[in-house]
Amino acid sequence: MVKKVYIKTFGCQMNVRDSEVVKGLLLAEGYKLTDDEKKADIVLFNTCSVRQHAEDKVWSALGNIGRSHKSQVTSHKLKKIETIDTGKKVIGIIGCMAQNYKKKVFQRAPNVDFIVGPSDINKIPDIIEKIVHRPSSIVHRTFCEVNDVRPEEIYHTGFREDKKHAYVVISEGCDNYCTYCVVPYVRGRLRHRPFKEILREIREAVDCGITCITLLGQNVNSYHDAGRNINFVGLLRDIACVCGIKELTFLTCHPKDTTKELFEAIRDIPVIKKSLHLPLQSGSDKILKLMNRGYTAKRYLEIVDQYRSIVYNGQISTDIIVGFPGETEEDFKKTFELFRDISFNGAFLFKYSPRPNTQAIELKDDVALEVKKRRHAELLKFQREVSKKKENRR
Ligand code: SAH
Ligand code: SF4
Ligand code: F3S
Repeated sequence: MVKKVYIKTFGCQMNVRDSEVVKGLLLAEGYKLTDDEKKADIVLFNTCSVRQHAEDKVWSALGNIGRSHKSQVTSHKLKKIETIDTGKKVIGIIGCMAQNYKKKVFQRAPNVDFIVGPSDINKIPDIIEKIVHRPSSIVHRTFCEVNDVRPEEIYHTGFREDKKHAYVVISEGCDNYCTYCVVPYVRGRLRHRPFKEILREIREAVDCGITCITLLGQNVNSYHDAGRNINFVGLLRDIACVCGIKELTFLTCHPKDTTKELFEAIRDIPVIKKSLHLPLQSGSDKILKLMNRGYTAKRYLEIVDQYRSIVYNGQISTDIIVGFPGETEEDFKKTFELFRDISFNGAFLFKYSPRPNTQAIELKDDVALEVKKRRHAELLKFQREVSKKKENRR
């Protein structure tokens, strides 16, 4: 009988794309996809470790699978038959939490059969195959090499959830080591995909009817194909020439790597969306330094001014973390004032969450939760008003 797979995706766009890739690989091996976890033979959680809350959601989802099994076995007859029909599910934890916790996942969630980190997703079909066909010979399988280069073939499956819009990964991992961030530890060092492979994937997607492309990387504007000496702007210019693309966007730019050339490309290339996501994180130089962000508040403001002077009517959005260790009222005031002065079109606001393995875990998480909540609420209130005004003006 054909086995059914259910994948639940947590986290960022990178994970959304990875889940698509895994679905494509499994479909090619003859598995079927289902949207109903209960009917699935194989349940995969593609997980996120960026904040504690993201991980909590996965632990609780895992607990729920265990509970539904137990209640099926212990309750009345009908449900028992259902259990026999579906058999035991194969449960896999893939993505960033698999990398972050490795074998410790099995201690906390004994119902998990295997874990696979983001660099090893190509091995998933093989692992499932072995567990399904020789369950007794397998206890637990782990593949979690953090710096492995994924084989390019994984991007060849062609499976996409959306028929008009496509995510295209241009680089994996991150070398910036912002002190609060787990990403370099779970996604590994920065690796750029070859220029010609990115172009090939985009051409194939466009041939299948895709018209909007979002390029993905933790720091897209540091893209570099060393073999061909092509940087991010060069990549944008070549992609924009692919006939059939109506809209091109990218996530995420790092302020320290923005250039005048990039903003001119956004202005000059018609298909590029006139919007920039540029995480600020904090408006206090002291905190920016502790975060290892590589710019000051003044420099960030200069970049925004440069962007706005080049890209007429260009939109700009940001990410802010409140309550980083050592953030005083004075530091927060600086963030609030810069945030107010810039007046973003949109903002993702986060409360600092200590992450294992990161450098900031050494610092005392000394901003009380109540204070984090208040600072978060202040920024949110301001942003809601600004966003509303900007929307009404459009
Ligand atoms: N590479 C991207 C995205 C990183 S994760 C970038 O650099 O912008 C997305 C956002 O999550 C970050 O911009 C940051 O604002 C937030 N974030 C990361 N780690 C965090 C932590 N430990 N606590 C709270 N927010 C965090
Ligand atoms: Fe994390 Fe910083 Fe890299 Fe973004 S740039 S993924 S915040 S280490
Ligand atoms: Fe994305 Fe979360 Fe991993 S934000 S890179 S899925 S830690």
